[in-house]
Amino acid sequence: NADVGSGGEKSAVEGVKYYTLEDIRVHNMSNDTWLIIHDKVYDITSFLEEHPGGEEVLLEQAGADASESFEDVGHSTDAREMLEQYFIGDLRFEKKKKLNPYISSLFCSSWSIWLISAVAAVVVGVGYRYFIFEHRSS
Ligand code: HEM
Repeated sequence: NADVGSGGEKSAVEGVKYYTLEDIRVHNMSNDTWLIIHDKVYDITSFLEEHPGGEEVLLEQAGADASESFEDVGHSTDAREMLEQYFIGDLRFEKKKKLNPYISSLFCSSWSIWLISAVAAVVVGVGYRYFIFEHRSS
């Protein structure tokens, strides 16, 4: 039962449970196995023995984010649909990540825009000086 001692929080709106990485990390044993795949949390304890790829690989990722290894294998649509029956909730992003979206957007999502702006500013600045210089000398 995913509700016992899991530390998850239920959202009032849709009844979806949210788990933090801390909550999930402790479910890393062969009799209690959770995985994160694409920000969704799955309790795959009962699936371990059924997994065509073996339980070993699942246990390696237990309590952690398996999105990358799941995709690396190139699982079939069937495999993706199977996930649904083990779904227990969504990953709750840690406060750290949500605390300051403005700061993180400056450094993460739009850093390239800043870089391009900086380069453009330098080019314009140098071009302007060159222009002035040309005019003075002629
Ligand atoms: C709960 C999540 C998972 C489900 C429901 C699942 C399901 C399946 C299914 C149905 C197959 C058969 C082939 C296919 O239909 O694509 C398969 C194969 C495989 N899976 Fe997973 N899988 C899961 C997670 C993982 C993870 C995290 C790994 C990590 C490495 C993994 C590794 C493999 C490998 C290596 C095979 C290939 C086995 C072979 O071709 O002999 N799987 N999986």
